[in-house]
Amino acid sequence: MSLGRRRFLGVLGAAGAGLALGGSTTGCGISLGQTGEGLTTTARLPAPYTVPLPVPPVARPVSTDSDTDVYELTQREASVEILPGLRTPILGYDGVYPGPTIVSRSGRRTVVRHVNALGVPTVTHLHGGHTPAASDGFPTDLVQPGDTREYEYPMRQRAATLWYHDHRADFTGPAVYRGLAGFHLVHDPAEDALGLPSGERDVPLMIADRAFEEDGALAYPAIDASMTGVAGVRAAFMEGVLGDVNLVNGAPWPVLEVDAARYRFRLLNGSNARRYELVLTGGPRFIQVGSDGGLLAAPLERGSITMAAGERFDVVVDFGGLPVGTEITMRNRLARGRTADVLRFVVARAVASDESRVPAVLGEVEPLDRAKAVVRREFRFTRGMPGHAGWRINNRLWDAGRVDAEPALGDLELWRFGTDVHHPVHLHLDPFQVVRRGAEGPTASDRGWKDTVDIRPGEVVEVLVRFTDYAGKYVMHCHNLEHEDMMMMANFTTR
Ligand code: C2O
Ligand code: CU
Ligand code: CU
Repeated sequence: MSLGRRRFLGVLGAAGAGLALGGSTTGCGISLGQTGEGLTTTARLPAPYTVPLPVPPVARPVSTDSDTDVYELTQREASVEILPGLRTPILGYDGVYPGPTIVSRSGRRTVVRHVNALGVPTVTHLHGGHTPAASDGFPTDLVQPGDTREYEYPMRQRAATLWYHDHRADFTGPAVYRGLAGFHLVHDPAEDALGLPSGERDVPLMIADRAFEEDGALAYPAIDASMTGVAGVRAAFMEGVLGDVNLVNGAPWPVLEVDAARYRFRLLNGSNARRYELVLTGGPRFIQVGSDGGLLAAPLERGSITMAAGERFDVVVDFGGLPVGTEITMRNRLARGRTADVLRFVVARAVASDESRVPAVLGEVEPLDRAKAVVRREFRFTRGMPGHAGWRINNRLWDAGRVDAEPALGDLELWRFGTDVHHPVHLHLDPFQVVRRGAEGPTASDRGWKDTVDIRPGEVVEVLVRFTDYAGKYVMHCHNLEHEDMMMMANFTTR
C-alpha cells in the first residue's frame, strides 16, 4: 500500500467513519457554482481596491550558456504583509507569494534548482509543462528538508502561461494555500511577431481566495497543521476549501493604475477550490487570445470568463481612449458580498500612441479529429460511498504504485470524464482539446489547447489527447486540491 493511501486512511481513524461525505454541496452553495465550504476571515480587512497590485519579481538565471538557463529558488518560510498592518506566515519560493516568475524561450532548456529550506518535504510540478517524467514532480518524488533538486525542462512547447506549484502527495492543498505557487511563462518567435501588449503591459494575475485568522495567519482547516502527520481537512471541508478574500498576486482586492492603452493579462485561478465567473464592469470586454496551452487560433471576445482551479486565460483588455480617472472593475459573478470583488483598474495616464495589436489570426491550432482516435477511456470522478471517505476516480482512491492507463506515445486517444459535483480535471504531460460537453457542446472557455477542464455537476466531457516524446509515469487528477489530497488522482504510464 502506498504511503499516500496509508496516510489518508489515517483520516478515517482520526475523524471516525461517520464523515459527512454524503452531504450536500455547501459553502456558497451549488446555485453559485461552487463545490466547497466557506471559511470566514476574522482579521481586520482593508476596503476593496485600496491596496496596489503587486507584480511578482522576475527570476534571473544564476548561470546561462548557449542552450540552458539555470535558476535557483529557495523554498522557505517567510512572514509577509498581505493584509495592511498584519503579518502572515507563508511558505514561499524565495520567501514570496506568488513565487518569482520564470521566463523561458521555447526550445531553450530551463533548469530550476529548488532548495528545500522548509521543515517539510516538497515536490515541485510545472503545470502545463511538457516535461520528462523525472522532472515532472510525481507526488511521491519528494525533496526532503535540506535537500536540493534540479528540475530540467526542455521547453519543447509553444508560448504559453504555465505555473509551478507544490505537488506533494496528501499535502498539495495546504502547501499551495500557504504560498507555494508561481508563474512560468514561455515565449516563442511566432508570439513575438504578433505585436500583443508586452513589457509593463503584459501582467500575470494569480487570482486565489484565502481566509485569515485574527492575527493575520492564513486559516486552513487541516486535520494536522504541521503537514507531517495525518493528511486532509476537517470533515466539513471535504468538498473543498473556499476563502472569503480574493487575492490577486498575493494582495487583497487590489487596484492597478493603467495607461489608456491595451494590456495583456494572464489570468490564473490559483485557488484550491473556488470557481470564478469574471466580468468587467464599466466599459471594455475581455478579448481572449490564449488558454492553458497557448494562443488561440483567433481572438475571442468574451463578456465573462468562467475559470476553475488551475485554468489559465490569456486576455487583452483595451483601456484605449478611456478618460483619465475611469474605473474598470473585475468582479466575480459566482459569489456574493465581498467575495464578488476581485480587482480594479484605474486609468491614470493618457498615452500618445499604442503600438500593440490583436491580430485576427493568432496561433496555429491543429484541430484534432475525433474519428481518428484509436483508444477510448472513461474516468468517473465521484465521492466515495457513505462510510468510504475520499474522492475517487472510477471508484478507486489514488494509489501511487498502481498504473491506471498505459497510453502509447503518438496515439490519439479519446478520454471521457463524468462527474457528480464540480471537478476541474487536469492531465500532466500534454494538452488536449475539448470535443464534447454535455448536450450543448464545448463552451468558449473550452477553446484551444487545454490542460485543465472545468467539469460541472453531472456533466460528461470528452477530450482528445495525444501524448508525445516522454515515456514514464505521470498523474492526472482533480485540481480541486482538497479532492486531490483526498485521493482523486490516477496514474498513467506512457510507453
Ligand atoms: Cu497544477 Cu498536477 O497540477
Ligand atoms: Cu500539471
Ligand atoms: Cu474534484
